[in-house]
Amino acid sequence: MSYVQVRNLSKSFDNNQIFNNINFDIHKGEFISLLGPSGCGKSTLLRSIAGLHNVDSGNVYVDGEDITYKDVQKRNIGMVFQSYALFPNLNVFDNIAFGLKLKKLSKEVIRKKVLQIIELVDLTGKENYYIDALSGGQKQRVALARALVVEPNILLLDEPLSALDAKIRKKLRTMIRQIQQELNLTTIFVTHDQEEAMIMSDRIFLMDKGNIVQQGSPIDIYTNPVNKFAATFIGNYNILKKKFSLKYFNLNCQTAIRPEAITLAISNTDVIDYDYCLNGRISNVQLLGNIIRYNVKLDDFSLNVDELNDINRMRFFKQDAVKLYFKTKDIQPLKDTINEF
Ligand SMILES: Nc1ncnc2c1ncn2[C@@H]1O[C@H](COP(=O)(O)OP(=O)(O)OP(=O)(O)O)[C@@H](O)[C@H]1O
Ligand SMILES: [Mg+2]
Repeated sequence: MSYVQVRNLSKSFDNNQIFNNINFDIHKGEFISLLGPSGCGKSTLLRSIAGLHNVDSGNVYVDGEDITYKDVQKRNIGMVFQSYALFPNLNVFDNIAFGLKLKKLSKEVIRKKVLQIIELVDLTGKENYYIDALSGGQKQRVALARALVVEPNILLLDEPLSALDAKIRKKLRTMIRQIQQELNLTTIFVTHDQEEAMIMSDRIFLMDKGNIVQQGSPIDIYTNPVNKFAATFIGNYNILKKKFSLKYFNLNCQTAIRPEAITLAISNTDVIDYDYCLNGRISNVQLLGNIIRYNVKLDDFSLNVDELNDINRMRFFKQDAVKLYFKTKDIQPLKDTINEF
């Protein structure tokens, strides 16, 4: 049986339905990212699981127990927010010890547990620092330690890295994933950053307007987007109109093609392994670091094609006439676009 089960969960604020009939299962020790654009309901869903919002209907089960109407404090859930939510008048040690003191554990046990967790989040030596004397990354590690020290059943993280600069964010996401795996801790991580979700997760739940539109491993979500939203939110897919999908690839719906799935060659050469070949002309070249992105103009539309920035590969320049090669497996039909153009 799954460790976390969400069944038919619905939530509205006044008459505004935020999500309706949400269902999912999470296994013990899984790291799930709830990924979606701003306002799609990620935080509301997470807070409903935590018990910070009352739901309209549906149930949340953890380890077989229905916790839908259980007090927040009794749920044994650890939560970390974007805004840290630490006590500025307490030092690092006392911030982390807070939850254990509420549980009325002995001073000795508290000390041992807090110091262990401080070591885990790499804050040894900072025990007596006040929160204001810490950097953003250090504050968030205190918040993480405070959530972990009570040995929660599940860990809920609401955009914990969003307020941090890019370098610290990368370091911390690795740390969070390592600790989560070490503790085999069932975790739901809210983010609107697809790269973060890809790197950290066992599975991604992709959310749009209050619905989970796709659940799957990062590679599955990336290579097989189920609908137009998924294809445009993940990666830099080319979306091809229905009339062109039909004309060139014999598919009667819009299609999505990854820029790196198209092979380019100059027009008098041939690649052996392909299903479709079209002619085009390079209209723009962008260097994105390790990738070169070519914009290629064809008769009816334009496509982006990504190639590795490798000195051994053929380079193309603006106005070059090129051939574009496609494999059938890389032309993804978009299910919700049958009636669109
Ligand atoms: N306490 C509240 N009262 C009324 N409406 C709310 C409340 N909290 C959230 N909402 C509404 O619910 C919708 C979803 O908000 P939510 O915060 O869950 O989105 P989100 O996906 O977390 O977005 P973001 O990425 O910006 O954090 C929004 O339309 C928001 O205005
Ligand atoms: Mg949010």
